[in-house]
Amino acid sequence: MTIRVGVAGIGSYLPERTVTNHDLEKVVDTSDEWIVQRTGIRERRIASDEQCSSDLATEASRMALEDAGVDAEEIGLVIVATATPDQQFPATALRVIENLGCSNAGGWDLSAACSGFVFAVQAAAQYVRTGSMGAVLVIGVETLSRIMNYEDRTTCILFGDGAGAVVLTPHDRTDGGMEYLAAYMGSAPDRDAIIQPGGGSRIPASHESIDSGAHFLQMDGRRTFKFAVRTFTDLVRRSVADHGGASELGIVVPHQMNQRIIEAAAERLELPIELFFSNVASFGNTSAASIPIAMRDAKEAGRFAAIRGKLACMCAFGSGLSFGYFLLRV
Ligand code: ACO
Repeated sequence: MTIRVGVAGIGSYLPERTVTNHDLEKVVDTSDEWIVQRTGIRERRIASDEQCSSDLATEASRMALEDAGVDAEEIGLVIVATATPDQQFPATALRVIENLGCSNAGGWDLSAACSGFVFAVQAAAQYVRTGSMGAVLVIGVETLSRIMNYEDRTTCILFGDGAGAVVLTPHDRTDGGMEYLAAYMGSAPDRDAIIQPGGGSRIPASHESIDSGAHFLQMDGRRTFKFAVRTFTDLVRRSVADHGGASELGIVVPHQMNQRIIEAAAERLELPIELFFSNVASFGNTSAASIPIAMRDAKEAGRFAAIRGKLACMCAFGSGLSFGYFLLRV
């Protein structure tokens, strides 16, 4: 028997500290004008020194659980998608389980950078679909500021910290909520396009690795940009192909990488830009957290309520290179 899967609740948490483009002008050789023109980003949130990823994830999860009307004890599994876990092990998910009091849950972290949340939702949906879990908490969280080189103007202007979470349950528990319809994941291996090279088994932490900046995020911006536009376009086309085509789309909630990437994809798809939800101006690129944060903002803005019966496509693309989507019926 397969069980229909639904999104029962959505939550997000953004740290209080706002860093504007003007603040960054004092740190690196850049300008508000350059950043806005090339990326659409105006500001981003940065975690306080006392906050780590599990703290952000816990706050977002509290909101998602409340939104879903699901108790922490009902959660069978917590998946945390992140490229910036509290530490390599134990899993950040276990800290979240402890913070929330999910006394009946197991948990693990999923590492796929910007695609992580989409892949985590796909995994969670299988547990609910088969009936092996009644409620799964899926979190995307990043404290990218901790791996940012604030001397590198090509990367430090792009990224921010934050967390978002959803609760998946059988659809009949969601009170007419959004139904999970379909999903896809893919890869185009290109290790160096976006990478944190140091700290793993290939380049273990050492004085040398630290001195060379190997623990910072490194990126080939142009290569990433081209890949993102091409992949984004393909993902949206593919997502609706078996579900009535683009005319059925009510909203696209893409990974929030760069406003120019969103606009370029909309143009290629010949779809109105209004269909594409964006909050990149306020939060920058929060990697695995960006889609659930945007989903929560879209919900609060009434964007889902306005498109009942239509399709919502959540698509991600990033380091790996990796990409994927999940499709909801709103
Ligand atoms: N301020 C001012 N000038 C800058 C800055 C800056 N912050 N950064 C770069 N420049 C300069 C460059 O040095 C270059 O100068 P030069 O011509 O004298 O050499 C010039 O601006 C143009 O640089 P480009 O790299 O060609 O600029 P581009 O228009 O491609 O924009 C950007 C760069 C914004 C990084 C763009 O390529 C992009 O958004 N790429 C996608 C990156 C991304 O989102 N990656 C994250 C994906 S992975 C993940 O989500 C975890």
